[in-house]
Amino acid sequence: MRNSRIVGVGHFVPDQVVSNQDLEKLMDTSNDWIIERTGISERRFFDHTKDTCANMGARATKMALERAHVDASEIDLIVFATITPDYMFPGSGVLMQRELGLDKKTIAAIDIRNACSGFVYGLSIADQFIKTGMYKTVVVVGAEIQSSALEFSDRQRHVSVIFGDGAGAAILQASDVAGKGILSTHMHADGTFAEELYVRDPGSSRKREERLTADMLDEVSIKAHMNGNLVFKHAVVRFMEVIAEALQANGKTKEDIDLLVPHQANLRITNFIQQKLQLDESKVYSNIQRYGNTTAASIPIALSEAWAEGKIKENDLVCLAAFGSGFTWASALIQW
Ligand code: UT7
Repeated sequence: MRNSRIVGVGHFVPDQVVSNQDLEKLMDTSNDWIIERTGISERRFFDHTKDTCANMGARATKMALERAHVDASEIDLIVFATITPDYMFPGSGVLMQRELGLDKKTIAAIDIRNACSGFVYGLSIADQFIKTGMYKTVVVVGAEIQSSALEFSDRQRHVSVIFGDGAGAAILQASDVAGKGILSTHMHADGTFAEELYVRDPGSSRKREERLTADMLDEVSIKAHMNGNLVFKHAVVRFMEVIAEALQANGKTKEDIDLLVPHQANLRITNFIQQKLQLDESKVYSNIQRYGNTTAASIPIALSEAWAEGKIKENDLVCLAAFGSGFTWASALIQW
């Protein structure tokens, strides 16, 4: 049976560090509140003169290719996960294809917009294409520029303090080594809660003649609406379920996990999962303290840093788990 293996991971984060103290100057918030409720100390914001969603994805991909000793020309497919694309359309995948000089090769680019679950959804898509034999080398990217859509005001402070910018990438390749690589992926969605974490405008379904109107600029409707408490409550339940599902599907137990890399939503969520699973702290990766919640980018950035720090070694059992807008949630179990 053909497997897909992650042969390289990489990331890119913008240079600009924004601390909680910086945010204190912009709205009624405090370093203490942010740390206590989210665990975040600082995040990165993009530089509009040089960083775009697609080129941050490209820079993360280049690092992943280099670490994998794979040439960009070997890539057969791009899967690009973001909810903050460069344009309304086309998606950022084709822009990254061009940036990497792969436009002449006309390889396919798929864009997915499953928010915080986007990277794990993308991994699942890539895995299916490799397992069926259609493609040999696939890059999965998660990239976000959240900062340009945030409102630094008291009415939006519960949203603005959480999010940050960044990108991460994984190179997947076909392998015939039995029992190694992506063992399984598990995806779920429940549209009942679509409006509990969403950006409404400019959407096409508001029974307005025009999609974008001048009065929208003052409305919160063009900013992220998040029912934080409800999202939190669902997140902790779904994270636990989808991790259990991945373990059960492969006849593994929580004791077999070498590293759990959860979506970096909120340190309190991660700590809850760690304690419920009774995993040692060293087995659950967290970098939300430095980057905030980077939505689709959070898992690949974490994977890339964990790998560089020597926390992921050959043959380790790595579990990825995500939850976010939709609601969508997903997991992947990987024998590295
Ligand atoms: O990425 C995937 C999806 N997202 C998530 O998983 C996020 C899940 N939710 C959360 O992480 C948390 O709900 C938040 C961090 C967003 C909010 O934390 P919370 O503990 O749920 O706060 P809250 O909304 O219940 O608000 C508690 C209090 C309120 O004041 P009162 O009414 O008790 O006086 C808020 O007005 O904290 C206030 N508050 C703030 N105070 C200082 C809300 N945001 C802030 C802020 N600074 N930034």
